[in-house]
Amino acid sequence: MKTLVTGGAGFIGSHLCEELLRRGRSVTVIDDCSTGREDNLREIRKDPHFRFVQGTIMDRDLMARLIRYHDIVYHLAAAVGVKYVLHDPISAMTTNTHGTEILLELASRFKKSVLLASTSEIYGKHSSDKIKEDDGSVFGPTHVLRWNYAVSKALDEIMAAAYAQRKHLKVITIRFFNVVGPRQSSHYGMVIPRLVEKALNGMPLTVFGDGKQIRTFLHVQDAVRAVADLSEKPSLYGQVFNIGGDEPVTINQLAHRIRELSPSKPRIQHLGYGKFYGDHFEDIPCRIPDVSRLQKAIGFKPEYDLDQILRSVIASFEPSFAEEALA
Ligand SMILES: NC(=O)c1ccc[n+]([C@@H]2O[C@H](COP(=O)([O-])OP(=O)(O)OC[C@H]3O[C@@H](n4cnc5c(N)ncnc54)[C@H](O)[C@@H]3O)[C@@H](O)[C@H]2O)c1
Repeated sequence: MKTLVTGGAGFIGSHLCEELLRRGRSVTVIDDCSTGREDNLREIRKDPHFRFVQGTIMDRDLMARLIRYHDIVYHLAAAVGVKYVLHDPISAMTTNTHGTEILLELASRFKKSVLLASTSEIYGKHSSDKIKEDDGSVFGPTHVLRWNYAVSKALDEIMAAAYAQRKHLKVITIRFFNVVGPRQSSHYGMVIPRLVEKALNGMPLTVFGDGKQIRTFLHVQDAVRAVADLSEKPSLYGQVFNIGGDEPVTINQLAHRIRELSPSKPRIQHLGYGKFYGDHFEDIPCRIPDVSRLQKAIGFKPEYDLDQILRSVIASFEPSFAEEALA
């Protein structure tokens, strides 16, 4: 089985490549290294079943050559995260919509299967205790650029559904909810690596807003295992799946937990969103996935609980710091 992973030099993508190779697949990565790094692939770089192509998913000719040759495309390349997208909203929108449009059209033409990476952000402001795949999306006003990422990913999903219904494209859409673990960059505002890095440097842990926002977190190993399992079951094509953790926590609780694990015991500081995200920023009070569909489909159960996730991230940042924290 020949697999193509777009965005494979990124955080989730690089772990997915390792998982696919472990399962005996051959893997090609296409990545422009805008947020990903070739160094993320150092452990598999020399594997004879692995190939790295530096390039962009916007290059239609290159994508046609690659997709024609492979059986399954795991489409993870994207401008990721609200903070990054706010920094460069135009190119982010183009990457997340035009890049996906090229990919879906080619996969449909060459009759290849697609795993499309989407996000819990597509639910927008939707609030319920546990969000189900068939729940609706509630976005804020379109002049508020915070919604760019969510809307562009929602459009990707709709394009995928259209190709599935009209052109018989075999596609599974996966909505990740806060995936964390080694290699995740702290630069784009992801809360756990950002707070761990601050703790590591003895700096105050900054929590935006009142810190009462509720989230779940999933270790990247659990996430990529789920993605690989889904892609191996032909009967699941055509469906959408939430992929997320099952242990809700407030951001305040998370910051306190990181503080406890940190030898420097940094203070926790609350800040408004304005300075970092602009005055119109709207955060989501509660985002908990319903993963019963995933459980039913592949028997999904995360192996890492929140404590193990935090320890894994700490250990990946700084081994000596981790030894002290985890003693
Ligand atoms: N990490 C999470 O918690 C999370 C949550 C929801 C959704 N997702 C989705 O999962 C996927 C992977 O996210 P990640 O967290 O690993 O982020 P990441 O930034 O580490 O990975 C994205 C990768 O795409 C590459 N890329 C960007 N534009 C490209 C282009 N034009 N051509 C080729 N490569 C390009 C980047 O260089 C990077 O390696 C994304 O589609 C993202 O939207 C992630």
